[in-house]
Amino acid sequence: MQYDIVVKSLSKSYQSKGIIKNALSNVTLNIPQGKIFCIMGSSGSGKSTLLKILGGIEKPTSGTVYINGTNMADYKQQDYDRYRQMTVGYVFQDFNLLEGLTLKENIILPLTLQKLNEVEIQRKYTDILRCVDIRYCENNYPEQSSGGEQQRAAICRAIIKTPKLILADEPCVGQFGIGYQAVGNFFGCNDFRTSIYVSRFFQC
Ligand SMILES: Nc1ncnc2c1ncn2[C@@H]1O[C@H](COP(=O)(O)OP(=O)(O)OP(=O)(O)O)[C@@H](O)[C@H]1O
Ligand SMILES: [Mg+2]
Repeated sequence: MQYDIVVKSLSKSYQSKGIIKNALSNVTLNIPQGKIFCIMGSSGSGKSTLLKILGGIEKPTSGTVYINGTNMADYKQQDYDRYRQMTVGYVFQDFNLLEGLTLKENIILPLTLQKLNEVEIQRKYTDILRCVDIRYCENNYPEQSSGGEQQRAAICRAIIKTPKLILADEPCVGQFGIGYQAVGNFFGCNDFRTSIYVSRFFQC
């Protein structure tokens, strides 16, 4: 079997106010290509830390991550930038929407940054609307939106660029009203290769 992501003996410690906290200790896993991969763990067990390392947001204290055979430790700054912009669609646990943009503007932002033309952006946005209930609130700003609405916008922003890798941090938590199945559908509605999502909850 081919693996998109190979993680070997990964550890991450944070130092804060003189206290060292081990967020991840010696994690080894292989994530196969083209699968939805769900990692469950209790609060504080290091799920977000793992995703941040896989997403190139944090660096490990020790251990290795290979993305399609390349050791992330060999990435230069422009490789990280390209990886985050082109390869990864990231759903942050706290959504990370830009406050000065409407939900729609947030969703299409990755395409705007890729300098896609307006027609193509609209086409992709309309595609997304087929599987995610967001149109009714698309012109609202994040502060005018519920947690669930912001979360759906964050999911749309991650999938609209059809990335090869989706990293989704607790993507179901705000979505009880529409059900886990619908959240699963978000991830199924694009032809990307690998999805990793982490959650405290078994049903997700
Ligand atoms: N920037 C940081 N500085 C210090 N400690 C941190 C930092 N980020 C995370 N931690 C600690 O590392 C541990 C793992 O945190 P992490 O956010 O990865 O957990 P989690 O499994 O995602 O938790 P939750 O389910 O509550 O989101 C926690 O004990 C947390 O306090
Ligand atoms: Mg977390």
